[in-house]
Amino acid sequence: MTLKNRVALITGASRGIGRSVATAFATAGADVILVARSGKALEEVAGEIVKMGRQAFAVSCDVSSGEEVDELNKKVSKSFDRLDILVNSAGISKRSRFLDYDDETWFEVVRVNLFGVYLITKAFLPKIEKTGSGRIINIASVAGKAPVPFNTAYSASKHGVLGLTKSLASEIAQSGFPQITVNAICPYFVETDMLRGKNGYHAQMAAMSGKPEAEIEKRITGQNLQKRVLEPQEIAAMAVYLASDDARGVTGQAFNICGGRIFH
Ligand SMILES: NC(=O)c1ccc[n+]([C@@H]2O[C@H](COP(=O)([O-])OP(=O)(O)OC[C@H]3O[C@@H](n4cnc5c(N)ncnc54)[C@H](OP(=O)(O)O)[C@@H]3O)[C@@H](O)[C@H]2O)c1
Repeated sequence: MTLKNRVALITGASRGIGRSVATAFATAGADVILVARSGKALEEVAGEIVKMGRQAFAVSCDVSSGEEVDELNKKVSKSFDRLDILVNSAGISKRSRFLDYDDETWFEVVRVNLFGVYLITKAFLPKIEKTGSGRIINIASVAGKAPVPFNTAYSASKHGVLGLTKSLASEIAQSGFPQITVNAICPYFVETDMLRGKNGYHAQMAAMSGKPEAEIEKRITGQNLQKRVLEPQEIAAMAVYLASDDARGVTGQAFNICGGRIFH
């Protein structure tokens, strides 16, 4: 129980990687605050976690809205007087040829993926500071390190998340809180709705290229040296490590989990 007596807030917890992180944290002993827009899906995840014997508090919130994040903060403050771990996993991807993006779509991706991380972290860092030590873990992407043609908004947002991660780690360490760590995880393709859902990568690429989804899947698994798609649990395992005492010396880093897709 490496996270016993810890309270963790996880955005994007209604499905995919965030959900897997929430379950893994609960397995490791943490109580969890689950955040996403879909309240019904969050309640289901909360129900599973309560059955595991941990506290789970589900709050519906759009992370890209300052007003909703303020409301979230008020609700969380009523039920929890501490926060030890924050995981920013909420994210979206909307692909387009660069010249075909409409401004609102491009900005929506950046607003959720980057501004949302800023808003949530700004809201909850003071609570983490009260504990004197704590963890912030941002689920970025290899798209924050490598070029992603036809997905400039996503790639720009994830490059931004890595800049925020490294700069905030440095700022917090210099501001009297060297025990608070800030790190990012950079996955390549993971088996979630973002990949295979109705509006996922395969569907978006198939619509743009006119190629069958099977061909697109073959191409992306071919780029992973292990020739496979990752499982959300693999990302969650890294998050558990980064949240643990064992990772107290790790800050300002961005870890690839990519089956050898990229090497920096
Ligand atoms: N899957 C991959 O291949 C992959 C690879 C690299 C990085 N990532 C990153 O991993 C993170 C999780 O992605 P995933 O694969 O788990 O995707 P997913 O299955 O589509 O889940 C996305 C999560 O984000 C939430 N979300 C989306 N917009 C939100 C908003 N405005 N406010 C609050 N919550 C919001 C969704 O819940 P609601 O819809 O209910 O709000 C959902 O819980 C993302 O940051 C993504 O960029 C994914």
